[in-house]
Amino acid sequence: MSEHATDLDGPDLEWDCYCSEHPIVIRGLTNRFGDFAVHEDLDLDVRRGEILGVVGGSGTGKSVLMRSIIGLQFPDEGCITVFGKDITGAEPDEQIGVRNRWGVLFQGGALFSTLTVAENVQVPLKQYYPELSQKLLNEISRYKTVLTGLPEDACSKYPSELSGGMKKRAGLARALALDPELLFLDEPTAGLDPIGAAKFDELLRELTDTLGLTVFLITHDLDTLYAICDRIAVLADKKVVAVGTIPELLATDHPWIQEYFNGPRSRAAAQTHEAGKALDKQAAEGS
Ligand SMILES: Nc1ncnc2c1ncn2[C@@H]1O[C@H](COP(=O)(O)OP(=O)(O)OP(=O)(O)O)[C@@H](O)[C@H]1O
Ligand SMILES: [Mg+2]
Repeated sequence: MSEHATDLDGPDLEWDCYCSEHPIVIRGLTNRFGDFAVHEDLDLDVRRGEILGVVGGSGTGKSVLMRSIIGLQFPDEGCITVFGKDITGAEPDEQIGVRNRWGVLFQGGALFSTLTVAENVQVPLKQYYPELSQKLLNEISRYKTVLTGLPEDACSKYPSELSGGMKKRAGLARALALDPELLFLDEPTAGLDPIGAAKFDELLRELTDTLGLTVFLITHDLDTLYAICDRIAVLADKKVVAVGTIPELLATDHPWIQEYFNGPRSRAAAQTHEAGKALDKQAAEGS
């Protein structure tokens, strides 16, 4: 494979994707729609236990990349391994061993509107464990719902009865239904007010750390990137052009990265993040 992404503090990527300990390894990925190539020879590793933020301009192929990893988009070239299993071109049945090890929150939430929150959470459970009793399904869905910070009575509510933030949490509860090791989130805080978004970020960080998750997080939200992401992958020019922490990305000279992370909105997000850290420190010293 030709050029690899600039993994700013990672290993030399000239090794076999099947030997990797990383939960997700992508090499030479090309996706085309007709003559239009969204990705060309794209490489990326997602490391165990990290929240990897995935950023890029609108239409750069973030959602298509996520769809490729979870087997909803058949790549034209390249290989993707998830937990060491090559899922490129695998039929859903063949993926079954890995598919129940991930949970997905699609862009827009996509809850079933005719099902209650509990019933939404039960959909993947019924799919993978058809032998579970209704009593157990109810218990698990209640546990997952409460885990995401929703009140217990949200279980019996329909999506139309929930606020935007509650819908996101319900979507997260459904994504966590199968106790996944990997979580895919496509713009989970889009449309939330800043306080709701910050609470969602906090919840995600806490769940990641306590449940030992690895998270592939597509976001435009600079506050999210500063607050909870361990590394950030930047999609541009049909590839992942760089992967690293924000200071590491700032040290690159890619024009989109410079514009995005050095712009006024990014500086404001950085200041908010620093101010938050200072307050946390004060609180810790005072207690
Ligand atoms: N099923 C499809 N058929 C044809 N073109 C598609 C299809 N899905 C995506 N595309 C095209 O692929 C490109 C990348 O789409 P994608 O949805 O991945 O962008 P994105 O980076 O997620 O954008 P946004 O930030 O707006 O969500 C776009 O130009 C889109 O029009
Ligand atoms: Mg998208």
